[in-house]
Amino acid sequence: MSELHGKRVVLGVTGGVAAYKAAELARLLVKAGAEIDVVLTDAGAHFVGAPTFQAITGRPVWHNLWDSRMDNAMAHIDLSRGADVILIAPATADFLAKLTHGMADDLLSTLCLARDCPLLVAPAMNRQMWQSPATQRNVAQLGIDGVSVFGPASGEQACGETGAGRMLEASEILDELIAFFQPKLLNNQRVLITAGPTFEAIDPVRGLTNASSGKMGFALARACVEAGAQVRLVAGPVVLDTPRGAMRIDVTSAAQMRDAVMQAVDDADVFIGVAAVADYRPVGNAVHKIKKTAAMSIDLVANPDILAEVASRPNAPFCVGFAAESQNLASYAEGKRVAKKLPLVVGNLVQDGLGGDQNAVTLFDANGAHPLSQGHKLAVARDIVKHLATLISKGNSDAQN
Ligand code: CTP
Repeated sequence: MSELHGKRVVLGVTGGVAAYKAAELARLLVKAGAEIDVVLTDAGAHFVGAPTFQAITGRPVWHNLWDSRMDNAMAHIDLSRGADVILIAPATADFLAKLTHGMADDLLSTLCLARDCPLLVAPAMNRQMWQSPATQRNVAQLGIDGVSVFGPASGEQACGETGAGRMLEASEILDELIAFFQPKLLNNQRVLITAGPTFEAIDPVRGLTNASSGKMGFALARACVEAGAQVRLVAGPVVLDTPRGAMRIDVTSAAQMRDAVMQAVDDADVFIGVAAVADYRPVGNAVHKIKKTAAMSIDLVANPDILAEVASRPNAPFCVGFAAESQNLASYAEGKRVAKKLPLVVGNLVQDGLGGDQNAVTLFDANGAHPLSQGHKLAVARDIVKHLATLISKGNSDAQN
């Protein structure tokens, strides 16, 4: 997805060993469709040279305040004009201090002071430098001044120590930047999401499950985080990375999923049931592996319907259901919406199989059916968030039948 198509990014690289990750970041930004102008500090240029960035971005690289390549010799003004953001990665402790105090003694710091676009920084430093009262004061002040701070992460550091201060990985900074550009449609909303299948054990090595990759639920969790929501994601057994900023609770069975949801639901404004919950579980769970016989049968008992239970609570959160159908999508999805008393159901036909990266869904609410454009699950998730935010702002009452 060309998620940064049409965006102009000034990428500032200051003097830390994490500058090597900035080369990868520049590559990812270009791949995502952004136009990049790299500005190096003198120290940054010691770690990675201008030719590397020039080759990656296909554009001139800047580091001198007195550079005569700009027509008016005002690189500090012209580079940030028309830029959508200035992103400093890595941002050293020294550079954060400079920004905090409005110092302007080189091209990058001058450009930051003279900017009229948002400033984002990805700090990178030794853990003691990060924890020092001076750096913490500076970072707090930058937050007050409207600067967005990405990371830092914790882990092994170049100096051999372990702790907070590592720069985020290039792909994580890219995700943060993409999220930065999304409209904050769910600001301050607390969203609880179920995703993936559940697994109902028959014996220690076998079980019943549903075919679900969890990709749609995880994409929705990411889209909600990007929209400014506080997200808790109750996930069945899937092999997917947790979307940055979401709090993940792993479960296996429907009963565990129900318990996790019930523990969290009091603090939720929105509940989205994306999980393909197994409707039944075996009666009992054999302690030992069941040996093969000529014929066998399994007695099943119904699992709790988590979504219906949440939707029927007094002061229920705004509830969204999913309906994956192989036929009669409109009547089945609308039937589920009415039966479970949901303001919104997301329906899709599963004729193309499950687990892909694309989806085509139709939204069903009190005003009828709203087909969304087919696309990557993240793009579809963002469109669902848009519709959801509109319904929430219109008020739950007129959205419900
Ligand atoms: N759901 C749930 N708990 C269950 C079953 C489903 O929370 N035990 C939620 C799903 O997460 C989804 C919606 O309910 O949001 C699906 O509705 P449902 O009628 O249960 O769908 P199916 O199980 O597919 O129903 P059917 O098999 O009858 O089509």
